[in-house]
Amino acid sequence: MQKITLNINGHAHSVHVDQDTPLLYVLRNDLGLKAAKFACGLEQCGACKVIIDGQAVPSCHITARSVQGKEITTLEGLGTRENLHPLQQAFIDEQAIQCGFCVPGMIISAKALLDRNPNPTDGEIKSAMSDNLCRCGFMTGYGGPSSGPRRSQKKLLPGKAR
Ligand code: FES
Ligand code: FES
Repeated sequence: MQKITLNINGHAHSVHVDQDTPLLYVLRNDLGLKAAKFACGLEQCGACKVIIDGQAVPSCHITARSVQGKEITTLEGLGTRENLHPLQQAFIDEQAIQCGFCVPGMIISAKALLDRNPNPTDGEIKSAMSDNLCRCGFMTGYGGPSSGPRRSQKKLLPGKAR
C-alpha cells in the first residue's frame, strides 16, 4: 500500500492504495463519491467517467496512482441537491433519464465538451457522447433528433450550461 494525494473537486484527499487500484475504486470505496458508476469495468461504457485535466475519461481502469497531481472532477463537483448544475437540471427537465445509471457519465462528457467548446456542432456533440452507453436502452437513440438527452444537449450546450 502506498499513500497518495488526489485533487478531487478542488480538495486534496490522501488515501492508501495498492499499485493497481483503479481511480473508480478510490472514489467510491474510500471517498464515498458514488456518482461515477461501475459497469463494464473495461473502459467501454462511460458510466464511470470523470474529468481529468479537462478530459472526460473512464475511471474504472486508470490507476489512482497515475492521476496524482491532476485536477479531477466528479459529478459531485458540479452541483448540489439544493443548487443543481444546469446540465443536471436539463436532464431532469427533459426527462432524459430512465434508470439513470448512465446519466452521471453522460453529464460528465457534456460538461467536458462545454468547457472546451461552448458552441459545439451536432456532430461534435454526438462525437463527445459516442462512448457513453445506456445499459437499459433509454438513451440508445442518442443522436436521434427526438431523444431526450439530445434535446437536453441542444438546449444547453450553446453556452447556457457552464
Ligand atoms: S465502467 Fe468504466 S467504462 Fe464502463
Ligand atoms: S437510463 Fe438506464 S442506463 Fe441509461
